[in-house]
Order: sequence, then structure tokens, then C-alpha cells
Amino acid sequence: MRKPRKTIRVLITAGPTREYIDPVRYLSNDSSGRMGFALAQAAVRMGYKVALIAGPVSLPTPDGVKRIDVVSAPEMRRAVLAHAPKADVIIMAAAVSDWRPAKTSLKKIKRTNGRTDERTLLLKETPDILAELGRKKRPGQILVGFALETESLEKNAREKLARKKCDWIVANTASAIGSKSSRAILLSRDGRRIPLPRMPKDNLAFTILSYIL
Ligand code: CTP
Repeated sequence: MRKPRKTIRVLITAGPTREYIDPVRYLSNDSSGRMGFALAQAAVRMGYKVALIAGPVSLPTPDGVKRIDVVSAPEMRRAVLAHAPKADVIIMAAAVSDWRPAKTSLKKIKRTNGRTDERTLLLKETPDILAELGRKKRPGQILVGFALETESLEKNAREKLARKKCDWIVANTASAIGSKSSRAILLSRDGRRIPLPRMPKDNLAFTILSYIL
């Protein structure tokens, strides 16, 4: 009798994170979550088992996807690390905030009504989730990162691919953020370079998955 095919588990992150300054203000970015959600939908349609860890976005959960909502970078890290050991493929499409306030005020920070015209917000770096996944990667696990660059796209993306120990990196420019379409260059650890023309993110998702899986 033929052995049933093993279900391939895909873990995807999507959207921005929010790093709260006080109860009503936060640092974040313009990520819509569309790329990660499109990847999740495409992966389910291709027959994979999909968990999607989403930052705060207003997108419906694609059918068949297990969704876990998070807010901040440390929360996303915890959720990703809890799911990563079982995942065969991990795609970090989330635009994780690189910085968070050194401390979050429990009360709304009040204005000083002109007594000071400058205030300093102390920031600290958030944990680099993708780099941690790269360090903990188990044999056979496929790790995919995204690189969003405003300059030296390929050079910086290649550097991230190596530094974060990814198998693939999807390099795109800042015009992708919040947009419905995107163009990208896929770069692999073993030297492949696949430029993809501008297309709707739904199509881009299928194209990316067909190369990496
Ligand atoms: N990433 C992550 N954790 C962070 C920041 C980024 O896991 N704290 C992941 C993103 O999900 C993405 C990749 O790292 O897959 C690259 O993100 P990007 O913002 O382009 O790069 P950074 O590592 O933030 O580097 P830089 O700010 O120098 O561009």
C-alpha cells in the first residue's frame, strides 16, 4: 500500500506590528498585510496546511487558514517561535517594526502646553525574529524572508539573505508597502535570481510559492 503523502505545514506572518508609546499612541508602518494573506490563501489552495500570524490588519481570514492575531513585535516573536518547530516552510512577510519605545507609559502622555518644545522618545531595537529562526532552523526547513529596501535593493537583500540564514529572500521596493500589486526579485541561497514583473499580489503569491515549494 502506498504511504499517504505527508501534509506540508506552512507558517506565514503578515501585516505590521504596533509598538505602543502609551495607551493611545504607537509606532507602526503602512503594511496592509495583503502579501502575507495572499500567500496564505495561495498555500491553502495548493493543498498545504497553513498557519497565519497576523499583525493588526483589516483583512478577512482566507478559508482554511488558521489565523493567530498579534499586536507587537515581541508578541509576534512568541507566536512564531511557538509554531516554528512544526513548520516545514516559514515565510516572514510581516513588516515587523524595527524599533519600540524603551518603555510604554501606562497613562496617556500629556502635552506640556509650551513648557517644553522638544521631547525625546527613547527607542530600543525589537528582536529580529527572522534571524532567530535562521539560527534555530532545523534540517530541511525552508526559511523565506522579505527585504523592503529604498536603496541598493539587490545588494541589501543579498546581505539580509546571508545574515538571516534564509533559503530565499523576496526583495521589493518601498512602493510595495500598502499596495495591491508589487514587483519583486526572488534570490536564493544557492545563487538563483528570479526577477518577477509587477503583478497583483494574489498572482505574485502563487508565483513565489511555485518557486520555493
Ligand atoms: N524581520 C523580523 N524581525 C524584525 C524585523 C524584520 O523578523 N524585528 C523580518 C521581516 O519579516 C522580513 C525581514 O526580516 O522578512 C527583513 O525585514 P526588513 O525590515 O527589510 O529588514 P531589517 O532586518 O529590518 O533591516 P533594515 O532595517 O536594515 O532594512
